[in-house]
Amino acid sequence: MGSSATLFLLCLPLICFAVINNAYEVSHDGRAITIDGQRKILISGSIHYPRSTAEMWPSLISKRRFIKTVQSEGLYALLRIGPYVCAEWNFGGLPVWLLNMLNMQFRTKNDAFMNEMKNFTTLIVDMMKHEKLFAPQGGPIIAAQIENEYGGAYGEDGKEYIKWCAQLADSYHIGVPWLMCQQPDAPPPMLNTCNGYYCDQFIPNSNNTPQIWTENWTGWFKYWGMPNPHRTAEDLAFAVARFFQFGGTFMNYYMYHGGTNFGRTAGGPYITTSYDYDAPLDEYVPAWSVSILPDCYTEVYNTAKVNAQTSIMVKKENETDDAKESSALKWQWRYEPHEEMINFTAHGSNLTANKLLDQKIVTNDISDYLWYITSVDINKTDLIWDKEIKLRVNTTGHGLHAFVNGLYLVIQLQPGKNNIALLSSTVGLQNGGEYYEDVEVGIHGPVELVADAGNNETITKDLSTNKWIYKTGLQGERYEFYNPLKIQKEEWIGDDLPSNKSFVWYKGQAWVNGKSLGRYWTSYLADQNGCSSTCDYRGAYSASKCMTNCGEPTQRWYHVPRSFLHDDGDNTLILMEELGGSPYNVMFQTVTVGKACAHSYEGQELELACQGERVISEIKFVSFGQPEGECGSFEKGHCESPYAISVIKKKCLGKGSCSVGISEKELGSTGCMVGQNRLAVEAICDTKVNER
Ligand SMILES: *[C@@H]1O[C@H](CO)[C@@H](O)[C@H](O)[C@H]1NC(C)=O
Ligand SMILES: *[C@@H]1O[C@H](CO)[C@@H](O)[C@H](O)[C@H]1NC(C)=O
Ligand SMILES: *[C@@H]1O[C@H](CO)[C@@H](O)[C@H](O)[C@H]1NC(C)=O
Ligand SMILES: *[C@@H]1O[C@H](CO)[C@@H](O)[C@H](O)[C@H]1NC(C)=O
Ligand SMILES: *[C@@H]1O[C@H](CO)[C@@H](O)[C@H](O)[C@H]1NC(C)=O
Ligand SMILES: *[C@@H]1O[C@H](CO)[C@@H](O)[C@H](O)[C@H]1NC(C)=O
Ligand SMILES: *[C@@H]1O[C@H](CO)[C@@H](O)[C@H](O)[C@H]1NC(C)=O
Ligand SMILES: *[C@@H]1O[C@H](CO)[C@@H](O)[C@H](O)[C@H]1NC(C)=O
Ligand SMILES: *[C@@H]1O[C@H](CO)[C@@H](O)[C@H](O)[C@H]1NC(C)=O
Repeated sequence: MGSSATLFLLCLPLICFAVINNAYEVSHDGRAITIDGQRKILISGSIHYPRSTAEMWPSLISKRRFIKTVQSEGLYALLRIGPYVCAEWNFGGLPVWLLNMLNMQFRTKNDAFMNEMKNFTTLIVDMMKHEKLFAPQGGPIIAAQIENEYGGAYGEDGKEYIKWCAQLADSYHIGVPWLMCQQPDAPPPMLNTCNGYYCDQFIPNSNNTPQIWTENWTGWFKYWGMPNPHRTAEDLAFAVARFFQFGGTFMNYYMYHGGTNFGRTAGGPYITTSYDYDAPLDEYVPAWSVSILPDCYTEVYNTAKVNAQTSIMVKKENETDDAKESSALKWQWRYEPHEEMINFTAHGSNLTANKLLDQKIVTNDISDYLWYITSVDINKTDLIWDKEIKLRVNTTGHGLHAFVNGLYLVIQLQPGKNNIALLSSTVGLQNGGEYYEDVEVGIHGPVELVADAGNNETITKDLSTNKWIYKTGLQGERYEFYNPLKIQKEEWIGDDLPSNKSFVWYKGQAWVNGKSLGRYWTSYLADQNGCSSTCDYRGAYSASKCMTNCGEPTQRWYHVPRSFLHDDGDNTLILMEELGGSPYNVMFQTVTVGKACAHSYEGQELELACQGERVISEIKFVSFGQPEGECGSFEKGHCESPYAISVIKKKCLGKGSCSVGISEKELGSTGCMVGQNRLAVEAICDTKVNER
């Protein structure tokens, strides 16, 4: 779905200084990428650096247990430049101002686009060269990508464009292979690669191109209104085994760590603020999460027995002193001062036009909000006078608020000038699809006053070609109400805290401090249907297969990175409530690994681990025999060893992590007559050991 563009860029020094310093040669044959002439099996993981904070990068990159097999050889980087990245990123990663350039058309044989693309790509490649980050310079970059999931939808011009992309890439002489993902007609020497849940049937377009899986989707992203998608480790392991079995040599986890769509970066429309992606390292990055042990690569024929540990994250109130303080949020508030807008004035407008304009074209996407303001003269001889009147607005979204003569969603016309102010809001711009840049947002009309004339007849007054005044953004955005350093204390109200009121800015003494956590949408419930309490990994995976959270708010928790907080405990949280909610229900919690679950088969090792200072404080479940079910709902089978529990307790209680060899010798005879013995354990992680 997306590439990482320059996203690996800032991670690179962290990788390369640790392990790589001499020049080495990267090439390929039809079987594999070769490094200094040796064929390599490459396993990698995507991290989009802007979806976490700089402070999180070192720990993200050090958590590479799942690529233990390549760790000893050092980490490499695949630089996916794009510049179009899709990635569920706002507008696919391209800036909206680009669209406002003369004769612009994205991603095809278009001079304006190709100029800008060349400019950007050159800039990135030059930066990399300057920092000596390509393999022949001793850096970690062993491959790069141009364009992303282009395919063949743009006809002859598209084919020419792809050829041009290839020539451009080739002209940089970076000394490592260039990839084009999902590009069956990738011109040599570009290597075409596969993205998807399964890539075992993928055949590259040249005998000289190895099988490369640039995006191994570990899960899926989420829309507002969608339950949480999950992909089981078993199904992923099955997919890998098949890929390698059929000749694959390079695969990348998409995502390894998904992260957060901070600010207004979520694409869409309607992609959530969380980009957790059900990835091995979750949005909050515990020390340990779902770890796929190297065994799954060797155990090609039995991926249903993948050895996995699952950490169940729990959210705790009052975990730290900071959190304790923040539990008691002190709120202040003020209304969004939009009187000026709803009272019609061209003063300070961004633009006037005698037609309805596309929202992103006017705003350049510097805000989610655009006011469309007009006025209409009505007198008592007018046919629609004293009729029941409706305002009919045909909008391409994503949200709309209407004010007539200053009143919200109420239409009371008066003789003379009547002011109509429409506030349109977007929830992430389209990030993919052919000609995606042409997808309209905002009010394209018609905008009409409609009166019922009786006898099934209506009278309409079309306002679409009126003089419209455009104003980008909310007043509160303009005055930076979200910035604690800029707000005037005396303008905020300490009492009579309103709830269930739209367009209110709330301020509570807490966290965040002017850094945006992303959009929130508390009342948006996920679909009632499609969830199941158990998840059968068998059969082909799709995003709708193993869903949870049906009928619940799509996203209840928003990630507040540690680095957003002030040490002195004086933190400010500011919310702008567009629709009407209650700040009394806002709370802060700390996320930690609360439970560690693991299951594995005889002949393997089972590992359990907690996070940070925590230790395994309690063993909730142990069964060595034929246990069934998933973490949190394991059940004993018809046979098991009665000794296993005491062995596990002895090895694990009070420890940060433990590992147990799985055999009857170690854990006692199970007496099971059929099937291979399996060990399942569920443990609680806590700061102190529970004497039970
Ligand atoms: C890219 O565009 C910028 C701004 O227009 C210009 O200053 C710069 O010279 C261009 N760089 C290249 C490599 O074309
Ligand atoms: C895809 O990722 C999963 C873990 O997320 C892993 O189990 C599987 O082996 C990977 N596939 C390949 C081909 O490496
Ligand atoms: C957390 O602390 C707040 C404020 O001290 C208190 O009101 C609340 O009950 C505490 N919650 C828990 C679960 O202890
Ligand atoms: C609208 O403008 C009129 C005239 O300038 C003013 O008297 C009135 O208070 C304004 N209304 C609001 C809601 O600001
Ligand atoms: C257009 O809107 C932006 C964003 O609110 C603002 O900064 C700018 O000053 C506006 N332009 C004019 C002419 O008012
Ligand atoms: C009333 O409105 C109609 C239609 O806009 C216009 O033709 C007419 O001149 C107006 N009459 C007065 C008295 O303003
Ligand atoms: C509403 O807008 C859409 C998209 O611009 C357009 O296709 C449709 O025809 C419009 N509907 C009416 C009734 O004009
Ligand atoms: C109004 O339209 C409805 C449905 O089209 C029809 O059943 C009804 O007879 C009409 N009424 C009049 C007064 O024309
Ligand atoms: C919020 O306000 C709306 C309209 O003012 C009302 O219909 C709704 O019941 C209110 N909700 C709550 C939770 O008070």
